[in-house]
Amino acid sequence: MIKPKDTQAREAFVAAADLQAGTQVLDLGWEGECLEYLRETGALATFVGEDIRAVQKAEALRINGVLSEMPAEVISGVRVVFYKPAQRSAKGQVFEWIDQGFRALEMGGVLYLAGQRNRGIKSYVAYLHVVFGNSKRVGRIGRVEIYSAKKEQTDPCQAPVDNRMTFELRDLPGSPYSVETRAGVFSRDGLDNGTRLLIDCMEAQPIDHILDWGCGWGALGMVAARLSARGYATLIDSNIRAISCAKENLRRNRICNAVARVGDARVFDPREKFDLIVSNPPFHDGNSAAHPLIEGAFRALRPGGRLMLVVMRPEAYLKHIRRVFGKGKGNIMAQKDGYVVLRAHIGN
Ligand SMILES: C[S@@+](CC[C@H](N)C(=O)[O-])C[C@H]1O[C@@H](n2cnc3c(N)ncnc32)[C@H](O)[C@@H]1O
Repeated sequence: MIKPKDTQAREAFVAAADLQAGTQVLDLGWEGECLEYLRETGALATFVGEDIRAVQKAEALRINGVLSEMPAEVISGVRVVFYKPAQRSAKGQVFEWIDQGFRALEMGGVLYLAGQRNRGIKSYVAYLHVVFGNSKRVGRIGRVEIYSAKKEQTDPCQAPVDNRMTFELRDLPGSPYSVETRAGVFSRDGLDNGTRLLIDCMEAQPIDHILDWGCGWGALGMVAARLSARGYATLIDSNIRAISCAKENLRRNRICNAVARVGDARVFDPREKFDLIVSNPPFHDGNSAAHPLIEGAFRALRPGGRLMLVVMRPEAYLKHIRRVFGKGKGNIMAQKDGYVVLRAHIGN
C-alpha cells in the first residue's frame, strides 16, 4: 500500500535523526502529530506543547506530555529536537521555539525542522541558521522539506527574540487597561473588532460571576471583572501562552476579582455556575468548539443567566443555540463590519 505523502514525510522526519532506543528527544510537534512514529523508535520522547488538548493527546499515546510555553525550562540535555510548526503559527512564536530548542539541546545535539515553502519554511530556516550558525537540508517529501542544525557552541549566535508588546486601551468600560501580549496569541496587536462589539453589548451586573470562554490575552475577562465589581470573572483558555498574558494583564491592571487558568473550556466543571458567559469562539474549530460551548453554557448558567457570543457566520450558532436553549431564547443583539453578537438566556 502506498502511504500518503504526509505520513511518509513524518516517518522521514523521525528517520533522519537515526534515533536509538533511549535517545532523549524533545518533540515540539509535527503539527502535533509526530508522536506515533517516535514511540516506535524506543526513544525517550517528551512532547512539550502550548495547548492542553495537544498535551492530552500525547499522554493518550503514553508519551510524556508537558504543557509549557518554555520547553527549555522543562527539559534540557536532549539529543534531538523535532519541530514542524503548525500551519497557523505566528512567525515570532516559531522563532521563540527555535530559541527554546537550541537551549534544550546538549552540545552536538540536532534540531530537525520541517515545513512547506508556502508556509514560511524559508524564513524559519533562515532564523535557524542565524541561531545555530549552521543548517542543511536533509530531505524532502512532496512539499515538505526537512532541515537540520547542530548545536556546536554553548550560546546561540544571536540573542533570543523577545516578542512581548504592550499597549493601552482607553475607550472601554472600566478603562484604562494596560495590555501585554506576545506573538502567537490571538489579536496580539490590539483589540479585535469582534471582541470590541461584544464588549459594547456586554450586560454584566455588579455581582455577576462571569466566564470568559477562550480568553486569549484577557480582553473580555478584564472588562467583565471591572463591570462586576462585587462579582467575579473566570478566564479560561486552552493555550498556556494566552493564559500567561491574561495573568500578566490581570496583575498589571490590579484586577483582583478574576482568575485566569489553562483548561479545555469545552469541558465544564459541573460544580461551577455562572450568571454570564462571554466568548469570541475559535471559528477554525467549527462545531467541535461551538457545540460543547453552547451545550456546556446551557448547563452551567444559573436561572436568568446569559450567553453572549461574537461570531462571523451566525446561522449555525443560532440554530444550535435555539435547539439547546429553546426556540425563543436566542437572538441577534448587534451587527457591525461582518461581526454578529448573539445572545441566549435561561428563564428565571
Ligand atoms: C478568537 S480567540 C478569542 C480570544 C479573546 N477572547 C479575544 O476576544 O481576544 C479564541 C480563543 O479560544 C481559545 N480556545 C480554543 N479552543 C479552546 C478550548 N477548547 N478551550 C479553551 N480555549 C480555547 C484559543 O486559544 C483562543 O485564545
